[in-house]
Amino acid sequence: MEIKKVMVIGAGQMGGGIAQVCAQAGFEVLLNDMNVEALDKGLKRIEKLLARAVEKERISESDKADTLGRLVASSELKDAQNCDLVIEAVVENMAVKEKVFGELDTIVPKHAILASNTSSLPITEIAATTKRPDQVIGMHFMNPVPVMKLVEIIRGLQTSDETYKAIEDMTKKLSKVPVEVEDFPGFVANRILMPMINEAIYTVYEGVSSVEDVDTVMKLGMNHPMGPLTLADFIGLDTCLSIMEVLYEGFGDSKYRPCPLLRKYVKAGWLGKKSGRGFYQY
Ligand code: CAA
Ligand code: NAD
Repeated sequence: MEIKKVMVIGAGQMGGGIAQVCAQAGFEVLLNDMNVEALDKGLKRIEKLLARAVEKERISESDKADTLGRLVASSELKDAQNCDLVIEAVVENMAVKEKVFGELDTIVPKHAILASNTSSLPITEIAATTKRPDQVIGMHFMNPVPVMKLVEIIRGLQTSDETYKAIEDMTKKLSKVPVEVEDFPGFVANRILMPMINEAIYTVYEGVSSVEDVDTVMKLGMNHPMGPLTLADFIGLDTCLSIMEVLYEGFGDSKYRPCPLLRKYVKAGWLGKKSGRGFYQY
């Protein structure tokens, strides 16, 4: 099956990046968001990143114009009616994702593949809300999408080999490296990354060290490009908490208990960089 036309749902930090790399790789892209402001902000950010790439002489002015010409804004799911692939990147909430997949299933053509960029939610459960579980798959990009090379491809219980192969090929066309992963809580990336971030938050919560010093230890001591608390703010504290909840519930092991300080910040609306305040102020 050939993928030509793609809809990306959710124009936030992940959806915007996914739409950008798809359009740059030559796919026709519809970028959808239910929030018109978010859509506008997402498109403006893509334009800005492409302008920067021109400045740095990585792409030409005409590459930029061609890429933007392949990107169309959409505020209604029914615009997906001619798409070969939909990549969902809405909030990390099962009820919201299930609603989106249930609706999409009645809109997209029979051959279309439905992919989720979920960080941790079970692909098998998302797939069960559709009548095409064999054509549902996880396509987990890393943040920031235009920079990071990895895509975890997650097989749900019923994902077919044909669907897997189509998404593996697509990932390579986006110049990313695919890794095959089974459908387990947190997959691989977040099963390993999030407990580290959660532990960094506990370290601050228990008064062992300050936010800045915890980050310095991991940056200078382990050569991480960002300290864990800067990274948590960058990912979004709401997303970090949702992932920890999935690990805690999915494995039933107390080692995944989300730090109370993380819960408190999310309750306060301190969601990290995107809301202007998290462990740091922006
Ligand atoms: N979007 C697009 N491009 C971005 C960007 C963004 N948000 N942030 C930085 N970049 C680009 C910059 O434009 C720059 O490109 P140029 O060479 O064209 O200037 C390049 O990345 C390097 O940026 P900087 O020099 O400003 O800063 P840096 O060297 O510190 O790199 C970084 C920034 C790549 C984000 C780096 O700090 C890093 O790798 N951080 C860790 C990122 C990480 O761990 N990501 C995974 C998060 S977990 C996840 O995604 C899974 C999940 O489900 C939660
Ligand atoms: P975000 O909050 O930046 O963006 C989510 C967007 O989805 C918002 O613009 C919102 O308006 C839109 N939206 C919500 N419900 C919608 C609906 N029903 N229809 C259309 N649009 C809708 O979130 P994000 O950080 O981009 O995360 C999106 C997904 O990607 C989540 O599942 C998250 O777990 C996953 N993810 C996040 C990261 C990260 O570092 N932030 C990394 C990998 C994967």
